Amino acid sequence: MKKKLVISSGAGISAESGITTFRDAGGLWENYPVMDVASADGFARNPALVHQFYNERRRQLLDARPNAAHMALVELEKWYDVYVITQNVDDLHEKAGSSRILHLHGELMKARSIPHPERIYTLDEEHLETTPESRDEYGDPIRPHIVFFQEAVPNIERAIEWASQADIFVVVGTSLAVYPAASLLHYVPKTSPIYYIDPHPAPVPDRVHVIAEPASRGMAELVKELKIEN
Ligand code: APR
Repeated sequence: MKKKLVISSGAGISAESGITTFRDAGGLWENYPVMDVASADGFARNPALVHQFYNERRRQLLDARPNAAHMALVELEKWYDVYVITQNVDDLHEKAGSSRILHLHGELMKARSIPHPERIYTLDEEHLETTPESRDEYGDPIRPHIVFFQEAVPNIERAIEWASQADIFVVVGTSLAVYPAASLLHYVPKTSPIYYIDPHPAPVPDRVHVIAEPASRGMAELVKELKIEN
C-alpha cells in the first residue's frame, strides 16, 4: 500500500514554465485590476474585458510546457499515491502526466454555459477565444470555467478530504494569500510532515519544513529525500 502524498500547488510551480504569477514583482495583479478581470462583479460590469483577460492568458499558455517541478510530481508516483490540488488554472500538471488533479480555481482551457453551468466545453488551439457574443450548441452564452473572486470554490470539500488523509503534504509556489486554498495545510494530520517549497516563503507554522528554493530545485531536493530505494 503506497503512502498518500498530497500536493498543494500555486502559480509559483508554473513560473519556470514562463507563466506569470499574480503577486510577484511584474505579476498579473500589477498589470490588471483584479476585481475588474477576475471577480463576479467585474464580469457582470464588463464581460468583454474579462473574456479578453482570459483569452490573453490562454494564448500565453499555448507556448508553455511543464517544467522539472511538474515532472518531479509525476516521478514521485513511483513510490506514492500522489494527489495534486492546484490553485492554478493552467493545464501543466495534466500535460506533465499527473494522475490525480483537483483544480480549486477552475481551468483556463475550459468554458461553460452560463444558464447551464454543468455544460462544460474544452477549448483548444483552434477554439481559444471566448467573447460575450460566443454561443454554445444550444445557443446559450458561455463564460470562462474559472472560479472568480466572490464565487464559491466547489472543490474545496474534496481538497480538505485529501489534505486530511495526507501521509505527506507538500505546498509548492503559493503565497498562501488566498482562502480557502491557504487553509488546507491546517487539515493535515499532526503526524504527517509538511514541506513548503517557495523562494520567498510566506510565514507558516514551525512544524512546516521550509525549502526556500525555486520549485524545480526544491522538488529535486524533495524527490531525493522522499524516494524509496528498494
Ligand atoms: N518556484 C516556486 N515558487 C515561486 C517561483 C518559483 N520559480 N517564483 C515565484 N514563486 C512563488 C512566490 O514566492 C509566491 O509565493 O510563487 C508564489 C506566487 O504567489 P501568487 O502570485 O500569490 O500566486 P498564488 O499563491 O498561486 O495565488 C493564489 O490568487 O489571484 C488568485 O486565483 C488566483 O490562484 C490564484 C490565487
